[in-house]
Amino acid sequence: MTTDSLFAYFAKHQQRLECFLKDAIDLHSKIIVKQSAAKPLLDSLNYSCLDGGKRIRAMLVYMAAQACQSSDTDSEMIDCAAAAVELVHCYSLIHDDLPAMDDDELRRGKPSCHIAFGEANAILAGDALQALAFTLLTKAGNGEDQLRLKLLTQLTEAAGINGMVGGQAIDLAVTGKSLSYSELVTMHKLKTGALIEAAVAMGGSCSAASASQQQALSEYSQAIGLAFQIQDDILDIEGESIDIGKPQGADIAASKATYPAILGLEAAKTEAQALCDRAQASLSVFDHKAAPLRDLARFIIKRSN
Ligand code: IPE
Ligand code: IPE
Ligand code: MG
Ligand code: MG
Ligand code: MG
Repeated sequence: MTTDSLFAYFAKHQQRLECFLKDAIDLHSKIIVKQSAAKPLLDSLNYSCLDGGKRIRAMLVYMAAQACQSSDTDSEMIDCAAAAVELVHCYSLIHDDLPAMDDDELRRGKPSCHIAFGEANAILAGDALQALAFTLLTKAGNGEDQLRLKLLTQLTEAAGINGMVGGQAIDLAVTGKSLSYSELVTMHKLKTGALIEAAVAMGGSCSAASASQQQALSEYSQAIGLAFQIQDDILDIEGESIDIGKPQGADIAASKATYPAILGLEAAKTEAQALCDRAQASLSVFDHKAAPLRDLARFIIKRSN
């Protein structure tokens, strides 16, 4: 697979996800859409969720499902899983930008949700997106209840106290303070790695991954989950605001605990490359169907946005 075919894969699956998300929001807002008082909530939710972002977590669901694909893989279940992870991610970004958290005014090249719609709507939009993620999974596909429950468990655990929210709490608590390397790794694995690991595991679950495939996917996702946040930290220094769609230098301005801040920029890059190599090696049990996962690992540490 080449970079061109990775981008073609992105374009195809991003469009598939976009349609699915739009339909899911419309279907689940039939009551509230008739209430003009709730228009700002719906507008803010659509603004932050549709037509934006790289959709990497959704891509990971599709790619992991493809790597383990079997004849009875349920494609609607995969769409629900991809959309659910992306909804939780969108909610986390809305809340991450709030004044009480990172206080950032730009997201995906547009004013952050709370700048465009006010803090209360931004909080509620995030809450609604999170709830919708779980609603989608409870109704997902034609599959067995057991699979729905498994997907729900994988996502809720990754999103919660022992996952993304726990990591975000640590991030806020240690801002401006010194952090050991192992504390930094733990924080990054929780705030960003957990959801990325869940996306890969959920894709595998949709295709009934074998024990050895699950193990390989787990090693892969742990490596790219950490590499993803390291690259995000690097882009805060080396990226351009126009590319990253968020304020460049925000981590330094806020004295955030990041890989470059704690290890230095070059060591952060070396670590990201080592994690990418580890991710590649972990995929040796898969055949050509894992080509998109292999390319994505490379993309994650080369990306400019
Ligand atoms: C940004 O995630 C927040 C982190 C966890 C680093 P992405 O870089 O995936 O953001 P979008 O969805 O593409 O905007
Ligand atoms: C965010 O990390 C992690 C989340 C769970 C949203 P950052 O605070 O570094 O993400 P950006 O740089 O604002 O996208
Ligand atoms: Mg943050
Ligand atoms: Mg932030
Ligand atoms: Mg960041």
